[in-house]
Amino acid sequence: MPFIVTEPCVQCKYTDCVEVCPMDCFVEGPNFLAIDPAGCIDCSVCVPQCPVDAIVNAKEANEAQQPYIAINAQAAQQWPSITRRQPPLPEHEAWRGVVDKMHLLVQPG
Ligand code: SF4
Ligand code: F3S
Repeated sequence: MPFIVTEPCVQCKYTDCVEVCPMDCFVEGPNFLAIDPAGCIDCSVCVPQCPVDAIVNAKEANEAQQPYIAINAQAAQQWPSITRRQPPLPEHEAWRGVVDKMHLLVQPG
């Protein structure tokens, strides 16, 4: 199964992950990035790049992370590709340690 972006990315969007993906499969939404499951080759090189550990293998997703499998897949159909790192969101420091941010995610569709 592909890798997926999960909750810690919400409101932070550090984008360190996009530079290393050999398949250019990250897409960008307003306050979250997602991975196109059709492009991901499960190489895992993006995982250690994320400073908030937001990227996991979909097959290892825990119950709270399960909804992100569909969110990543849906986002990949609608959001534009991102391959260059950019500054994180302005409030990233305040949101970095916050759990339960899913309600803030500007969802695709
Ligand atoms: Fe890209 Fe590899 Fe990460 Fe999949 S696991 S998103 S192919 S860097
Ligand atoms: Fe998000 Fe981590 Fe990438 S915060 S943008 S998954 S580096």
